[in-house]
Amino acid sequence: MSDAPIITLQDVDVLFEEKKQEVHAVDHVDLEVNRGEIYGIVGYSGAGKSTLVRLINRLQRPTSGTVTVLGDDMAKLSAKELRDKRHKIGMIFQHFNLMASRTIADNVAFPLRGTMPKDQIKSKVDELLELVGLSERAKAYPAELSGGQKQRVGIARALASDPEILISDEATSALDPKTTSSILTLLKSLNQKLGLTIVLITHQMEAVKQVCTRVAVMDAGKIIERGSLVDIFAHPQKQLTKDFIDTTIQLDATLTALKLQPAVQDLGPGNRLVRLTYVGDTTDQPLVATLYAEYGVSANILFGDIQSLQNTPFGNLIVVLTGAADQVEAALTYLKQNDVTVTDVDLEAVGGED
Ligand SMILES: Nc1ncnc2c1ncn2[C@@H]1O[C@H](COP(=O)(O)OP(=O)(O)OP(=O)(O)O)[C@@H](O)[C@H]1O
Ligand SMILES: [Mg+2]
Repeated sequence: MSDAPIITLQDVDVLFEEKKQEVHAVDHVDLEVNRGEIYGIVGYSGAGKSTLVRLINRLQRPTSGTVTVLGDDMAKLSAKELRDKRHKIGMIFQHFNLMASRTIADNVAFPLRGTMPKDQIKSKVDELLELVGLSERAKAYPAELSGGQKQRVGIARALASDPEILISDEATSALDPKTTSSILTLLKSLNQKLGLTIVLITHQMEAVKQVCTRVAVMDAGKIIERGSLVDIFAHPQKQLTKDFIDTTIQLDATLTALKLQPAVQDLGPGNRLVRLTYVGDTTDQPLVATLYAEYGVSANILFGDIQSLQNTPFGNLIVVLTGAADQVEAALTYLKQNDVTVTDVDLEAVGGED
C-alpha cells in the first residue's frame, strides 16, 4: 500500500455569490491528511471549516483546485463512482439527524438497506452498537437518549458502510465537557481499532488537544497555521492560534482572578509579572529553583497548570519574578534558552473591554 496522503487538497478555492456579494469561503487551501491520523481543523464560526470538509465528499465542488480522496480526483468520478466513494467517507454532525420514529437499531440499519441480507444487517448493527457502547439501547427511540448517546448512534450509523475516513463536523459542540470527552475517547479508540482516518472540525481547542495528531488553524477561508499538535502548542506563530491555545487553560478567567491578588496589586520596579509556557521535557527541570540558585531571582508562582498533549506535558506558570533588573533579564534569557516561552503579562489590559 502506498503512503500517499488519503486526502489531498491542492490550491482549492470556493467562492459563493450571495446577493451580488462574493464570499471567499475557501481561499487557496492546500491540505494533506495521512492515513490513520486524526487531523484537527480549528477556527471560529464562518472561517470556512464546513465548506472545506464538504469538498472531501463532494457535497461541495471547488470553484478551482483539485480534491483527491483515496487516490481519485473527486471531480472526475461518475455518479456511481461517487456513490461508492462516499461509502468510504462517513460523516457526523452537531445535530445528529436521527429519525425520531425509528429505533436506534433501525437508524443504524438505515444506510445498509438493500446492501446485504436482513440477518446480516442485523448482526452488522449489533456489532456497530457494541462498538459505540449502545448494545443495551438497540430498541430505544432517539427521544429516549441523552445527547452523548445520540451522537454514539450517529457514529455507529456513519460507520455502517465501513468507511476509511470519518469527518466530524462540530460533533461535540452541543455536548457538555464530560460527554464531549467520552465521545472524543470513542473516536480515538475507533481510530486505533479500525485504523480510521478522522478529520475533526471544531472551534474547541480542547477537543483538538485531546485527540488530534496534527492541526490546522483556519481564518477567513485560509489555513493560517498548521503543524503537529505539540509543535503548534510549543511555538504558535499567529495570534489567533495563541488565543485558541489560551482557551485550554481558561487564561482570561485566570487573569481576571489574578487581578484580585495582593501580590500583583503594586508591582515595584524589581518585580516582573510573566507567563512561562513549556512543552515537553522542560517540565522536568527545576526551573524555579535554578532561577534562584543561579541568578538570585525569586519566583512567586501565582498560577500553575500542567496538561497532557497526548502524553507530552504542556505547562503554564504565571509568576512574579523578583530580583535585580539585570539578573531578571539574565534569568529570562536562561529560560528562553531552555525552550520556555516567556510572555509579559499586562493585567491592565485584562477585562478592559467590558
Ligand atoms: N451555500 C452557501 N452559499 C453562500 N455562502 C455560503 C454557503 N455556505 C457557506 N457560505 C459562507 O461561507 C463562509 C464559510 O462558511 P462555513 O459554513 O464553511 O464556516 P464554518 O467555519 O463551518 O462556520 P461554523 O463554525 O459556524 O460552522 C461563511 O461566510 C458562510 O456564510
Ligand atoms: Mg460549520
